[in-house]
Amino acid sequence: MERILVIDEGTTSTRAILFGADGREIAVAQRDLTQYYPAPGLVEHDATEIWERSLACAQEMVAAAGGAERIAAIGITNQRETVVFWDAVSGEPLSRAIVWQDRRTADRCAELRAAGHEDAVQAKTGLLLDPYFSATKIAWALDHWPALRAAGDRLRCGTVESYLVYRLTGGLHVSDATNASRTALMDIHAGGWDDGLCALFGVPRGILPAIVDCSGAIATTDIALFGGAIPITGLAGDQQAATIGQACLDPGQVKATFGTGAFVLANTGAAAPVSQHRLLTTILHQAGGQRCYALEGSVFVAGSMIQWLRDSLGMIVDAAESEKLARSVPDSGGVVVVPALAGLGAPHWRPDVSGAITGLSFASGKAQIVRAALEAMAHQMRDLKTAFVGDGADWADLRIDGGMVRNDWLAQDLADVLDLTVERPLYVETTAIGAAMLAATGAGLYPTLAAAAKAMRGDVEKFEPAMPAATRTARLAAWDGALASVLRRGF
Ligand code: G3P
Repeated sequence: MERILVIDEGTTSTRAILFGADGREIAVAQRDLTQYYPAPGLVEHDATEIWERSLACAQEMVAAAGGAERIAAIGITNQRETVVFWDAVSGEPLSRAIVWQDRRTADRCAELRAAGHEDAVQAKTGLLLDPYFSATKIAWALDHWPALRAAGDRLRCGTVESYLVYRLTGGLHVSDATNASRTALMDIHAGGWDDGLCALFGVPRGILPAIVDCSGAIATTDIALFGGAIPITGLAGDQQAATIGQACLDPGQVKATFGTGAFVLANTGAAAPVSQHRLLTTILHQAGGQRCYALEGSVFVAGSMIQWLRDSLGMIVDAAESEKLARSVPDSGGVVVVPALAGLGAPHWRPDVSGAITGLSFASGKAQIVRAALEAMAHQMRDLKTAFVGDGADWADLRIDGGMVRNDWLAQDLADVLDLTVERPLYVETTAIGAAMLAATGAGLYPTLAAAAKAMRGDVEKFEPAMPAATRTARLAAWDGALASVLRRGF
């Protein structure tokens, strides 16, 4: 049986997973990543740590497979938009990486919007003017971190998959089309970097990688790393990989991944519609230069809210306890959590707002607050669904995945509040399986992604809506009220 090695480099941890060509997980290694918060709104990573921990996990998996020659292909998937700056010769980072959640360029984005650039940016990139995307982060770093300009011709820049490939290959500077589509520097219709966008944001084109397909013979690893060369045949941003892993391969099929954030992507096929409701248009995958697109709703805080309840507030000892607490009370007792801890993404795009817990009384305990935090996931999904409906892309059902949806209560609440069938694969790590499907297709193990999905995607279970309409209406009215007050206030 052929084996596929996936490197899944997420926001809070990096993992390597060894799969069989049938999609069965054989082994997994995981390391946490340090989060640096130098000031409110700033989030940074150490790219050396990302590289070293990803490599260590991958090496463990190569050993588990019995050697490099036993691995047919590597697929890489990653947190998107985060930017790394490194020296072309040493491969060492020249600064911290600026993470997707970082909002240091909120004012710059507001300036560009005020100057009337948003429509043109959206038309070319499918994105909006928000600090989430890479372009303003790159420009900020060039202006504030002298080591970058001092590196001159040796400066290289890229998203995380680009850095990993550079290190894995000993110097190939590429980025796949899905990750490139999140920078706000790519014309997603033409398929390349756009000089006008580079000039607008102040990013020299020469520091950017070459844009490549998501599957195919992309690169080969340096022999020294794994005791043999392994082909890298799959690359995609984690949300695109999860969409593929959920087999959303036909237009209209839609998934939501609940990781650090929650990201809904609906396949739109060869069409790249411009959202009228503040959603994003993004590249879902590209092979042979042919692009498939998706409409995306990006919610910034999901699993990170549970982590915050655990690590900062000490309200729960682990994620499993959140389900127990949610079930221990009949409702949140009027408590509403607006999890805008990193501002709000789609469909509001308000980097300036902060989170809120409303409706507190002496009857509110930790069970009500934790339940309200979980309820906020369905509320945020309802707001996204409204935007998708406005764009003529309603959801027939919703495929959910990500670590957070191991929580059965949450899966049922999503079905109840959205009034929709929710489908959950038994194997919820669909990001990794999607990267494995891309790599397997790229290595020629399957002729198409559809064939890979048929062979590699496991069974699913379904959650059907069961909530009385009046309960749903009351929940959503309370959410709408709390959200409106957060949006009014700003910082
Ligand atoms: O766009 C950011 C996204 O790629 C992060 O994903 O898995 O860390 O929530 P995740």
